[in-house]
Amino acid sequence: MDIKEEIRQMCRDKNAIIMAHYYTDGEIQNIADFVGDSLALAQKAAETEADIIVMCGVHFMGETCKILCPGKKVLVPDPEATCSLAESCPADKFSEFVKAHPGHTVISYVNTTAATKAVTDVVVTSSNARQIVESFPHDTQIIFGPDKNLGGYINSITGRNMLLWDGACHVHERFSLEKILQLKAQHPNAKILVHPECKGPVVKVADKVGSTAALLKFSISDDATEFIVATESGILHEMQKSCPDKTFIPAPPDDSTCACNECNYMKMITMQKLYDCLKNESPEINVDSEVAVKAVRPIRKMLEISAKLGL
Ligand code: 13P
Ligand code: SF4
Repeated sequence: MDIKEEIRQMCRDKNAIIMAHYYTDGEIQNIADFVGDSLALAQKAAETEADIIVMCGVHFMGETCKILCPGKKVLVPDPEATCSLAESCPADKFSEFVKAHPGHTVISYVNTTAATKAVTDVVVTSSNARQIVESFPHDTQIIFGPDKNLGGYINSITGRNMLLWDGACHVHERFSLEKILQLKAQHPNAKILVHPECKGPVVKVADKVGSTAALLKFSISDDATEFIVATESGILHEMQKSCPDKTFIPAPPDDSTCACNECNYMKMITMQKLYDCLKNESPEINVDSEVAVKAVRPIRKMLEISAKLGL
């Protein structure tokens, strides 16, 4: 048996499910039982009947699974796969920020550690941030963390004035407006797809702004045959698979000598590490029980609001 067959066999033997984010390598997405954006992965974790969840993604995604499914074993093939955005918001500093602004509802992006979620009222992802913010009365005072770009975008489309934490993703911040416009001049019929973690000027030139799943859906349903894609380049795998006749051009980062439009953390998930972690049932993700009790509420609240809104 080759390594991929052995992985699938271990899943059957151990009643394990492999979930993968769109930013992982194509071969990891291909072997997964379920591939999705952050919201879909959390929704799937909440409903799975598997005994073991292998989260092929970054550490906070494994934590979210464990918080939602405390009785299950949750594995992440490389626990060093963290997230610059989650790390830009240490829980102790965020807690001080929250305390310094009493009377505010705290909304946190899912790209946060469990400890930061524990001081949050409701979690959002890029798929539901707008709708969840709008589910609060317009005069609600809101703290939004940690992504200042997503927060700024939501402020701009909802007319809110949320207080923003000064965090960002090192991949999405590096897309170059100038290079995207050069590409657009070479491909005038191409539509520009942008993730809201990108900086404001890049978001402004988008034909479609959305989560990875929303950008994928748009690329499938839209009549255009060429797309410039300003998000982590792993999503091109599923786009190209869904639409083999369309052309997907990864938006370039500011420095063309580096692969900065790739998330180095997501790319730490390899087939060998996936095999080893299933075989050894390690490394396992665990969350401190006191933290988990606090963090589960805002995650469940997000899932409840999303279900009510049909998201
Ligand atoms: P989505 O999965 O919500 O599109 O977010 C992208 C991301 O950066 C995940 O880390
Ligand atoms: Fe975090 Fe950015 Fe990587 Fe997403 S792309 S996991 S936000 S570092």
